[in-house]
Amino acid sequence: MVVSDKVKQTVSEEIARHPLDPLSVEEIDRAVAIVNEEADLGDRLLFETITLSEPEKDLVLNYQSDDFVPREAFIVVLNPENGEVHELLVSLDNNQLIESEHIPGVQPSFIFGDHETNFLQFDQKIKSDPRVIEALNKRGITNSELVMIDPWPISNFGNEEELGKRLAIGRCWLRTEATDNGYAKPIEGLSIIIDLNKSEVFEIQDFGVVPIPPEDGNYAARYQESFRTDLKPIEITQPEGPSFTVTGNEVKWQKWQLRVGYTPREGLVIHNVTYEDQGKIRPILYRGALSEMVVPYGDPTSDHYKKQVFDSGEVGIGKCANSLELGCDCLGEIYYFDVSLYDITGKAHTQKNVVCMHEEDFGVLWKHTDARIGETEVRRSRRLVISFFTTVGNYEYGFFWYFYQDGSIEYEVKLTGIVNSSAVPPGVKPKNGTLVAPQVVAHNHQHYFNVRLDMMVDGLQNSVYEVDTVRDPISDENPHGNAFSVKKTLLTQENDFPRKIDPFAARYWTVANHSSQNYMGESVSYKIAPGENVLPFHHDDAVIMKRATFMTGHMWATEYDRDEMFAAGNYPNQHPGGDGLPKWMSGNRNLEDKDVVIWYTFGHNHIPRLEDWPVMPVVYMGFSIKPSGFFDRNPALDVPPSDNQCACEGECNC
Ligand code: NI
Repeated sequence: MVVSDKVKQTVSEEIARHPLDPLSVEEIDRAVAIVNEEADLGDRLLFETITLSEPEKDLVLNYQSDDFVPREAFIVVLNPENGEVHELLVSLDNNQLIESEHIPGVQPSFIFGDHETNFLQFDQKIKSDPRVIEALNKRGITNSELVMIDPWPISNFGNEEELGKRLAIGRCWLRTEATDNGYAKPIEGLSIIIDLNKSEVFEIQDFGVVPIPPEDGNYAARYQESFRTDLKPIEITQPEGPSFTVTGNEVKWQKWQLRVGYTPREGLVIHNVTYEDQGKIRPILYRGALSEMVVPYGDPTSDHYKKQVFDSGEVGIGKCANSLELGCDCLGEIYYFDVSLYDITGKAHTQKNVVCMHEEDFGVLWKHTDARIGETEVRRSRRLVISFFTTVGNYEYGFFWYFYQDGSIEYEVKLTGIVNSSAVPPGVKPKNGTLVAPQVVAHNHQHYFNVRLDMMVDGLQNSVYEVDTVRDPISDENPHGNAFSVKKTLLTQENDFPRKIDPFAARYWTVANHSSQNYMGESVSYKIAPGENVLPFHHDDAVIMKRATFMTGHMWATEYDRDEMFAAGNYPNQHPGGDGLPKWMSGNRNLEDKDVVIWYTFGHNHIPRLEDWPVMPVVYMGFSIKPSGFFDRNPALDVPPSDNQCACEGECNC
């Protein structure tokens, strides 16, 4: 797949830099050099975060192309020798260190290896530890070449001996041959606790030998004995190219305008989303990105209860992103955005083709047949898709933003990859998981995602309502009992949140602007419309409920604060909990006509199926952000009829 030449032509050679453009490779290298030269924090620093320090909102919103806006890098470093974490701010205009602050009592997200040891060497070092060799020997494994050790976050169960140490749990699997699916053969009962600051084994926790499951679980094409033969080609062609234009990181597609951003922690960030309505550019969303996600597991045996992974805050979904140049993740005329990433020593590189953008036909947009005059009006729907895929250990996540012609936005996560596998002895039927192959169990678990939506519905001053549909009481006005109506409640304080979904009240929430009225004199608004969702099954005092409080409710709102970015706090790795949303909301700030930030949580309850093995068909889940009295009428009346309307011989629903 290649970048469309037709799109490339729309990218001018000289692109003025915008204040929200992610750091370039050159800027990352320069920022790292400044830290290494000026910060005096040690000469073997490991770089956890190197990202743009986004300028103040008013500077961005009022930005004109010749304005000076400070260009600054935000950096988090770890000195593995003393375990100290520092946050630094670097001016890229003056090449100066602006601030350096020691953050006590926190652990950075996962960093493996050090200046001398890359990840593969680190893996070898762990495998060559005599205690690891002994534990493997005990299980009849004498050749560690085929052993896979996946480092997992250790969570925080208040163990004294873990305090102040940067630790991970190495969970182990065994390949049958060098390139098969290792996850088919869990080495059960063996946890290698790794001291990440020393790149060495801290201790072995052995919960007892369990036989290695007997079967392979291969999914790669080379293992497939035959393929179905009745598939004919589908080709998506856009002979005149796609309908979007790209200038630097700015995207224009029909009436939508937005900027594409990217951070190592969040991955894709969508900035400054506006929609042109009758010649007027109307703001909707200042910034949208995944703020945090967590996957808590539901098995109490050995140390499986410690499996609660914050893939964003503990690992960094943006760092684990796939380059899509080799895959077939997107179809049609594709525009790819490259991103700038870095290794643990801070050395920057370009990762090609990470963010994929294309248009998709999406069936019928609207339709009516006037039977009396024999006339059908139908419009086809098209959506702009901006996405990226990330691989975190055994799992894959695709993060998709969709923009529609009727002013709607949809956020979707695609979950796929390989379910986390454990082993049980022959004949054991696990209570808290599913046997997906002989002696292989996939534990019950959930995936929670929190999306931070810094809304600006016709401006920054917004208010939030909860909208339920209710049955009207029987009365003189409702003698037949058929009446139902809408109950709209203004949520004025942070402590009114979190709210939970209520499908039986058809509940949704609106973000309204009281100073902007629609044609009918009501405040304009966008609504947050839930999709699939769930709540945790963990007990209230379970560790994960404190560490990932954001999953205990679905709809959260706070007053904007530029430092409040991540639902479980800045440093969830090994954190005991209480940071992030629950902490910020303790101030109970007023939310009426304020710069409101929405934090929407959605969860997927994964009771594994046999069909999820050995690789999981995609699960789709997400939510919508839809205009609700924002426009004065259907904003998509001006979508022209399709040229090929008559090709369908009458009806054109296809
Ligand atoms: Ni799952």
